[in-house]
Amino acid sequence: MEKMLKQVKIGDVLLSNNIFLAPMAGISDIPFRLLVKDMGVGLVYSEMISVEGLIRSGNKTMRYTMVEPEERPVALQLFGYKLDSIERAVQMINDKADIIDFNCGCSVNKVLKSNSGAFLLKDLLHLEKIMRVMKKASKVPITIKIRSGWDSANMNAVEVAKAAENCGVAALALHPRFKTQLFSGSADWTVIEKVKKSVKIPVIGSGDVKNGRDAERMFKETGCDALMIGRACMGNPWVFGEIIEYLQGKEETKKNFLARAPLIRRHADLISKYKGEKRGLREFRKQLHYYLKGCRGLKNIRDKINTMEALAQFGGIMKEMEENNA
Ligand SMILES: Cc1cc2nc3c(=O)[nH]c(=O)nc-3n(C[C@H](O)[C@H](O)[C@H](O)COP(=O)(O)O)c2cc1C
Repeated sequence: MEKMLKQVKIGDVLLSNNIFLAPMAGISDIPFRLLVKDMGVGLVYSEMISVEGLIRSGNKTMRYTMVEPEERPVALQLFGYKLDSIERAVQMINDKADIIDFNCGCSVNKVLKSNSGAFLLKDLLHLEKIMRVMKKASKVPITIKIRSGWDSANMNAVEVAKAAENCGVAALALHPRFKTQLFSGSADWTVIEKVKKSVKIPVIGSGDVKNGRDAERMFKETGCDALMIGRACMGNPWVFGEIIEYLQGKEETKKNFLARAPLIRRHADLISKYKGEKRGLREFRKQLHYYLKGCRGLKNIRDKINTMEALAQFGGIMKEMEENNA
């Protein structure tokens, strides 16, 4: 099993292992990336960053491109459509990222309306131009993240992967659902296997990996070079350590709430450090709900979580939960 967990090279960037944090808007910000880095992940992705936002609004969007030395290597993910904007954005983040990833899978209407995200799967000619522009403008490896295709009548993941390889893209991540599926049904891992067999660049599998057994199964069934974890790490950054240990043949160890509490506190501290206490803790409400899912006494403190905007309030909630879950 040890062989599944291994170093992987993307372009000239050597990653210590092949278990990655997936890009997730609203989740994979610096505080969360720093936490999962400590769990041993090989690569962390940023939230998707708008190229138009980057070149127009400067500082506001620039915040999303901030990277701390301890979390590197980091892939910063861009989304956009216009070639000149994309070129400019790549030049702006060239010195910050270890890898620049391009989003061709997002199915949110706001992104699709600007012909970005999964829309580009319908316009391969334009996507090829984007990949060539990025490759030329970038000093670091370019990767892309795609879905299986727009819909079941237009499954073109293999075609897109071959085009990406021809354009000099260094690796490709695939979430094998169609745009039209959003997150429904199961990810069809057979598409990952087909893509892996059709290109030489590393293929990163994404979709429905929740634990070590799933990770083992994805590696075995698809032959993918690396995999990324998305929803399963929301409120559960420990899942990375558990998966890595499982793949090393160790027993999976589950932590109880008291053992988890210090990391939850660290997350709250980091988010208030990077985003300011009030804004940070408001954003943290959603994440705290994830962390506390299944804990005793949660029903009684829901209102407190939903109005939390200070570290002192957060401390009170944690104390109550620790008493209830000792
Ligand atoms: C809340 C949320 C935000 C996401 N944001 C992004 C994003 O910014 N860029 C991207 O390429 N994929 C994004 N995704 C998709 C994930 O990276 C991943 O491909 C997908 O969730 C399937 O993997 P999973 O089953 O491990 O969650 C997002 C998914 C979720 C649940």
